[in-house]
Amino acid sequence: MGGTMTSSTLRLALPGDSPPNVIHLSDLHLRDATTLRNAQRLVDHIAWRFRNTPTLVVLTGDIIDTPDPGLWTQAETLLRPLRAANIPVVACPGNHDVAWMGLVGRERYRTMALQWLAQSAGAPPPELSWPRVYRAASLSLILCDSNQGHNKLATGQLGYPQRMALALACQSASERGDQVIVALHHHPMSDDPSLRLKDADALLHLLSSRCDVLLCGHLHQAAAWSEVWGIRRVYAADASTRSLRYRHLWYDAGRWLSSWVHLNQALLPPYPSASSS
Ligand SMILES: [Fe+2]
Repeated sequence: MGGTMTSSTLRLALPGDSPPNVIHLSDLHLRDATTLRNAQRLVDHIAWRFRNTPTLVVLTGDIIDTPDPGLWTQAETLLRPLRAANIPVVACPGNHDVAWMGLVGRERYRTMALQWLAQSAGAPPPELSWPRVYRAASLSLILCDSNQGHNKLATGQLGYPQRMALALACQSASERGDQVIVALHHHPMSDDPSLRLKDADALLHLLSSRCDVLLCGHLHQAAAWSEVWGIRRVYAADASTRSLRYRHLWYDAGRWLSSWVHLNQALLPPYPSASSS
């Protein structure tokens, strides 16, 4: 893959001077009534709980299970409660978003996914470039496309041009004094030959001392690391529609904290009003 990549930047309209809450969802794999219902439960709960608080949602890919225009429409409908609650949703593509069953046909399906992501981001498709930087208060959230180039099975790569643009974006963000969160679909610590991020070593090397939080999905295995590879926190999400939980990150007294929020029967709608909670 040749050429150069430059990052595009979008300022999110969120109030406040400090980084907003960050909600991490991943691998929704929307495909049937169960996944759609569980995703709706997560979305409704997040919209209720964070409706009056500066908050954004990060989706680290595999939003749908296999490319299909109807599923993309359902994904858009699903997210409406968040937009109505002034909670922006930002997303990067997973292999299931760009390839049939996550495996083949990237050339055929990739455009459909990128169009959805562009519309979701409020940008016309030609303006959607990677990495993509979202700024809110003193946070720079940098989303990457780990489906660049030619990848067999469920492997991925960022590619050299994107990695260079990512390094520059991280550098610019730290010069502004921003907290830096980087998000991508593929798990940079997987060494499974059918799943791995091929340029993971190069990614982790470039993020060292330049990234406060790294978010990923893909393996459907939740995990967390602190102070590894010069990165303060690394969080891998599971498949949110299967686990029915999301990770809530918040910035407090100079550090990022996080907790899981599990949905259970007590949290089924109708939710209590703000005044009674
Ligand atoms: Fe995946």
